[in-house]
Amino acid sequence: MDLKESLKQQAAYRAADYVESGMVLGLGTGSTTKFAIERIAKLFKSGRLKNIVGVPSSHQTEKLAHALGIPLTTLNDHPEIELTIDGADEVDSDLNLIKGGGGALLREKILAQASRRNIIIVDESKLSSQLGIQWALPVEVIPFARQTAENFLKFLGASVTLRSNVDASPFRTDQNNLILDADFGAIPDPQKLAFQLSGRAGIVEHGLFLGLASEVIVAGEDGIRLLKRNNPHE
Ligand code: 5RP
Repeated sequence: MDLKESLKQQAAYRAADYVESGMVLGLGTGSTTKFAIERIAKLFKSGRLKNIVGVPSSHQTEKLAHALGIPLTTLNDHPEIELTIDGADEVDSDLNLIKGGGGALLREKILAQASRRNIIIVDESKLSSQLGIQWALPVEVIPFARQTAENFLKFLGASVTLRSNVDASPFRTDQNNLILDADFGAIPDPQKLAFQLSGRAGIVEHGLFLGLASEVIVAGEDGIRLLKRNNPHE
């Protein structure tokens, strides 16, 4: 395992320490969250965690968690989540995030908003002085609105790429929508941009997760840090 993978694993394993028996868990998506799901499954199998149930944020996560034996439920059956563990693509000093690198941003945001606590797990390369510097903003659009949404994002100042699969076919989300990766460069006012994107019909959701992270676990070469709203980037 290379260093980055090892850091992701360390952050994920630390997050798994926050899981308690009886919890309803939101299960994020991505390569970092995968380590957390594996760890939770191990703790469950060993009997150290009992009566947990998970709501997966994607088909990918559902498949993984099911294969590892984590009992699953739906958000409709358990609309209040105690703890969600998820990754992120970029984290600023206010613990605002860009998410959606794995294309699961819509369900991830629904879970985050339905969760009492959201623990975000990242390696230190995801920390950023300003959102947008490191990652284009994923924007989920319905296919009908693709071109007009692209024009709108360009009007707002982004250069836009339609996300595609390795075979060059358009990537489809779990809702069968498309993702436009909107590169704004540094985003000076994420709240304003979020408001503008949310007001546009055809845009289903965007990857700005503002004020949703309760804490961020950051694994770096010098160890693991827990960032809370009152000690950002320590
Ligand atoms: C998926 C996400 C992921 O959490 C994000 O892309 C981080 O992924 P990884 O842990 O693989 O770097 O938002 O939609």
